Amino acid sequence: VRYQHSAISDDDELPDSRDREHKDPRLEKIEAIRQKAMLGGGEKRIQVQHKKGKLTARERLSVLLDPGSFLESGTFVEHRCRDFGMDKTSFSGDGVITGSGLIAGRPVFVYSQDFTVYGGSLSESHAAKICRLMDRAMKAGAPIIGLNDSGGARIQEGVMSLAGYTEVFQRNVDASGVVPQISCILGPCAGGAVYSPALTDFVFMVRNSSYMFLTGPDVVKSVTMEEVTQEELGGAEVHTTRSGVAQGAWDNELELLSAVRELVTYLPLNNRDKPPLYPSSDPDDRPCPTLDRIIPENAEVPYDMRDVLAEVVDDRYVFEMIPDFARNVISGFARLGGETVGVIANNPLVLAGVLDIDAAIKASRFIRFCDSFNIPLITFVDVPGFLPGTQQEHAGVIRHGAKLLYAYAEATVPKLAVITRKAYGGAYCVMSSQHLRGDVNLAWPSAEVAVMGSKGAIEVIFKGHSKESMDKEVAAYEEKFYTPLSAARHGFLDDVIAPRDTRARLIRELRLLKHKSVSRPWKKHGNIPL
Ligand code: HXC
Repeated sequence: VRYQHSAISDDDELPDSRDREHKDPRLEKIEAIRQKAMLGGGEKRIQVQHKKGKLTARERLSVLLDPGSFLESGTFVEHRCRDFGMDKTSFSGDGVITGSGLIAGRPVFVYSQDFTVYGGSLSESHAAKICRLMDRAMKAGAPIIGLNDSGGARIQEGVMSLAGYTEVFQRNVDASGVVPQISCILGPCAGGAVYSPALTDFVFMVRNSSYMFLTGPDVVKSVTMEEVTQEELGGAEVHTTRSGVAQGAWDNELELLSAVRELVTYLPLNNRDKPPLYPSSDPDDRPCPTLDRIIPENAEVPYDMRDVLAEVVDDRYVFEMIPDFARNVISGFARLGGETVGVIANNPLVLAGVLDIDAAIKASRFIRFCDSFNIPLITFVDVPGFLPGTQQEHAGVIRHGAKLLYAYAEATVPKLAVITRKAYGGAYCVMSSQHLRGDVNLAWPSAEVAVMGSKGAIEVIFKGHSKESMDKEVAAYEEKFYTPLSAARHGFLDDVIAPRDTRARLIRELRLLKHKSVSRPWKKHGNIPL
């Protein structure tokens, strides 16, 4: 059917979007409201925000997203509370800006809380905007990024704000493993404002201007008499070195937002998508001769596993997650032959690379993220075992260590591992071993696969024997197990390679696994030991 031309011709003097001179008074009124909304809580509060060294909610969006890509929705939403003087003030948008945009040309859905409007607190309407955004992201299959700067539940609204938060939490859980969720903490976040980020995949904080706590210092003081500053209670330092709540800390908001842009480049848009390819000029078959000399002669001497990773990955670059928490294990994103990989590595430089509770939690959470989003796992192993002692045992190292075992066993993405030196005891089993369905298990000639180190082992099995005979047994033990050959002879290692060939070999193996597919028995969900 060919439609007739409109009865309104180009020459008619009627409202027409092509006629920029013409002003529709209805639109003018709406545009005036929109313009006011652009200022959030007003110029004065914006100045206060700037004085604190913070950007406004809108400025943050303009830094985070590709220029001109932001499409806002919900600009005119207002709160509906009539109590405690709330009937006298209202701000279009109700303290949160929601919409979609592009990062490096790929879609994301974003909300940005505006501290200049009721301290960014979450009302019924504010929550409804975030929920709608999350629902749209789920339908579109695109990541959700939250820019959080909020005093938590809006106190004046009582249960309506609590209900609103809980609706957000439910959606965080529904979206978990479906689309990546990233939380940026850009101010004081209390109460519900921290539980939503806690349910997401990555939490990034700004040093000295962002805080996360369930209850602020005033409440802490009144309940426990403890005097503590916001920074001491829940600053970026605390959460990226001690609690493990956040995955990254940056010196200012610009650095943080550019880190989020970078993170997104490693990720697929959703769990049915593959991460984007970023081919580099780094040759796939580049030999790494320095790796041939990286393992010290003396097994007691540490080395930095970061130096190994740098040699192997594209452009020597790993984007580490939570680098200053549980430094005995490294987790981060990198690329091999242009493909995103998740790297997990014991670091012998810290506590000899031993696995402890924090390391197990850090690595297992990262592994589960990668597995949810089709990111292959590359594991570098140099680990003397799990950390012994009452502190760890009483704190539940059995339960937490089991998380790591569970995460590797459950992961169905390609799993490649390289043993560089020690792979002792339970840690051998855990770290992506062939028995946990590792796809490719390689070792360097310096690898040692054993139940434990030689001295401890001989003391157990030859207890009370003469020193001379024990020394002989230690030598025999080292001859047998301080080599990859014993494990390789059993077929538990696919190959023993020259360290210099590690990069080229991993890239070739990774390509072979491109279409890996595993089917598992049906279950509602497993019961990971939490
Ligand atoms: C309503 C709030 C608010 C809130 C802040 N404001 N928090 N309004 N509800 N939750 C308002 C303030 O009244 C103030 O308005 C403006 O925001 C700025 O706040 P200030 O206190 O002046 O700013 P600052 O000194 O920087 O302190 C920020 C803050 C503090 C640390 C966030 O405001 C604070 O402690 N707020 C309460 C935090 C809290 O306990 N929230 C409830 C958590 S319970 P005016 O007009 O005066 O400028 C919760 C339940 C969910 O969230 C549970 C889920 C499990």
